[in-house]
Amino acid sequence: MRSDLSDLAILEHVQRLGEEHPPIPLGSVDFTVRDPLGVSRRYGRVLDFLARVELEVERNVLELLVLLPDVSEADRMFYADVWADQEIRHGVILDKLQADIGRPPAEPDNKVATAVKIIGMLAHLPAVGDIVRMLYYLTGAATERQAVLAYNSFEKGLLEMGEQAIARTVVGQIKRQEPGHFAFYHMSASLMIQQSELKPWQLFLIRVLRRLSFEPVGIYGDRRREAEFGGVAIALGFDEDLSRIARDIGRVEERLLWAQDNGMDMPPYILRSFEEALAAFREGRSFAT
Ligand SMILES: [Fe+2]
Ligand SMILES: [Fe+2]
Repeated sequence: MRSDLSDLAILEHVQRLGEEHPPIPLGSVDFTVRDPLGVSRRYGRVLDFLARVELEVERNVLELLVLLPDVSEADRMFYADVWADQEIRHGVILDKLQADIGRPPAEPDNKVATAVKIIGMLAHLPAVGDIVRMLYYLTGAATERQAVLAYNSFEKGLLEMGEQAIARTVVGQIKRQEPGHFAFYHMSASLMIQQSELKPWQLFLIRVLRRLSFEPVGIYGDRRREAEFGGVAIALGFDEDLSRIARDIGRVEERLLWAQDNGMDMPPYILRSFEEALAAFREGRSFAT
């Protein structure tokens, strides 16, 4: 664990992110696609999925307002001043690329689920609020790590196809903004553990809830989206080494939640959720092309 971790270090990280990574200027993006049909065939479903998830940031912000009634200054600054604007711009850019290659526009679902509202009411109890905050950081870290891996693979594939313009100025630029998001959640979760803010029963509950509710990004308990995610994972080549991908995505919570369980190589629920998504796709639950 980083020994220099503190509230101030996290605040400085957020300030730096805001300064160094303004939302990607639309003028800096070159939407030239050499082979729109080829890109659509290989990466259409990836583009559809990523555009939707990036645009659903609006919903994530609404959820945050419900889930974190007492936000710290670093939390507030991160999601309100830095993260949301960056992510929405990612969505806008991907959505335009999607339209340019002849695919239908993204349909983000920005409704806050009832379950979230109920948890939000409970989060006003300080003991529950801390559990929710930790789950928020862990979910954020896993989500942003998935984004980093997805954009890495997407950029590589586009370069292989000779699509230099969109590889560099669309995916490449988005890709550079995701690690800073991951670092924020990673630092925030690590600091909560380092400062022993959670009692053993709270940590126990966090482990249980993580195991019961982990799902890949952008699914929200919807079986059709689970299958879509499976298709995205295959298009990005994640299926070639799924356990390595799952281990990478679970590394933060493996260390923070499960380190005392000797022999736990990675939280098994992560790999399981990915395997289920792949199976859902292969069973043909998704007919999107
Ligand atoms: Fe993003
Ligand atoms: Fe992100």
